Order: sequence, then structure tokens, then C-alpha cells
Amino acid sequence: MLRLSAKDDNEDVRRYWNQEACGTGRPIVGEVQELSREWFERIETHRYGLEPFIHSVAQFTRHHGKRLLEIGVGAGTDHLQWARAGLDCHGVDLTQRAIEVTRARLSLYGFSSDLQRIDAETLPFSDDSFDLVYSWGVIHHAEHPERIIAEVRRVLKPNGMFIGMLYGRHSLVALKLWVKHALFRGRPDRTLAEVVAHYMESPGTKAYTVREVRELFDQFTHVTATTLMTPYDRLWLPSWLTHLVPDRGGWFICIHAVK
Ligand SMILES: C[S@@+](CC[C@H](N)C(=O)[O-])C[C@H]1O[C@@H](n2cnc3c(N)ncnc32)[C@H](O)[C@@H]1O
Repeated sequence: MLRLSAKDDNEDVRRYWNQEACGTGRPIVGEVQELSREWFERIETHRYGLEPFIHSVAQFTRHHGKRLLEIGVGAGTDHLQWARAGLDCHGVDLTQRAIEVTRARLSLYGFSSDLQRIDAETLPFSDDSFDLVYSWGVIHHAEHPERIIAEVRRVLKPNGMFIGMLYGRHSLVALKLWVKHALFRGRPDRTLAEVVAHYMESPGTKAYTVREVRELFDQFTHVTATTLMTPYDRLWLPSWLTHLVPDRGGWFICIHAVK
């Protein structure tokens, strides 16, 4: 897997995500007033239109009353669902922008959360302090994902659960990136890991196989890792082709891991 140079650490990741909170781009929100109710509702409609399966993976209401830490709150769409479901919410993100947007969002709907701008490679929480840690599409952006996972395990109570999603490398999304940036550029020797690291969102993004995900979580007592075919896999491809590819060729690996 590609190693980053000393310069390309989480500072570059922060710079990338600080440009705008994840999922709040102009094609999604149009000309609507930033941080208004309509702005947030457009973001929510768009997100769960594309990723409706988040509800069945997270099962927000099932965790009512628990103490939750969300890593990488982004625009706070899922964080709002946790608050609505009656959890004691704590959230972190690498960027100030994400913290401000999430804080504004929760306040608009009458909720609050302890939100902190920090790098999740070091979490400022005591051992055994959360029932649930949630992180959707975040940990693969860190320079040292294994440090975040060790921190997740440390802050979870015994029998506490991690729920999250990491990108899958043996996927149509990664293959399309490879065709565009390796094959069509006469560089078929470039690996799937290299093209994901260079061309998928922030610098150094990682993508895993299910086996690698299991290895990352090998200190947990019970782990399920399920690959999902996503609209991002199907984009630009004829449906007859995507129907031939099994779910394990999908971009999202959804994880449940018990400490
Ligand atoms: C793809 S967005 C996902 C946001 C949100 N979970 C969602 O699903 O919309 C990635 C987020 O992770 C945050 N992030 C990346 N690396 C991080 C790190 N090391 N510690 C904390 N947050 C991080 C980014 O700032 C960004 O808000």
C-alpha cells in the first residue's frame, strides 16, 4: 500500500475537508441560504436518497439512551439522527468547519452534543467510557487508521460496539478509478491502492479487502464486515453489467465490532 510522504500527513487531510463540510456541495444545496433549515434538509434528503442503507446499518433508535462517540461528524447528518434517537452524543472531527456545521445543525433542531475538533488518532476520552462508537467513511482518510481503531477500542466499554464503514478496494469504484487513472494513462502497473490514495477525496485515502478489515479489528471479540454495492459503484455503468457483479464488489464495507 502507498506510503505518504512526511508532508502528506493528516494536515493535508484537514486542509481538504476544511474546504467544505462533506456532502454540502453546491450541486446538493443549490443557492439555498447556508446553515438554514432548508439547506440541512436538502443535505439529508440527498444523503439518505443515495445511502438509505445507513439506517439499517446504524439502527439509530435501537441505541436509545446510550453514550455515543461519533468520529468524523462531517455535516452532522447522522449525528442528528443519533441525537433524535435519544443518545448522549459526543462527536469529533479533524476540521473546524465540520464542528461548526454540526453544532449549528443540532441547535436548529433543539439538540446539543459535546463536539470537539481533534484528530481521532488520539482521543481525549477515558478508557471504557462509551457504549457505542460510530464512524461512517472516515477512518480510511487518516494516515494511521490502525491508531484510530486502537483508540476506538480503548474508549469503548467492555461489550461496547463499534459501527462504521470503510471503503472496499476490490470494488467497481476502485476499478473505475484504475481504468481512468492507470489504464487510460498507459500506467496499468499502478495498483488499486495507489489510485485510491491519489484520486479519491483527501490525499492518502485507503481502501481495504474484507480480510484486511478483519485484521484491523482483530482485537475485538466479535466482528462482522459486510460489503455493499453502492450507487457510486453503479454510476456510469450499464445496469446489466452491475447486476453481474456480486455485492462483495461494492465500495462500502460495513462493520459491526464488539469490544
Ligand atoms: C467523507 S467525510 C464523512 C463525514 C460523515 N461521517 C459522513 O458520512 O458524511 C470524512 C470526514 O472525516 C473527517 N476526518 C478525516 N480524518 C480524520 C481524523 N483523523 N480524525 C477526525 N476526523 C477525521 C473529515 O474532516 C471529514 O469531515
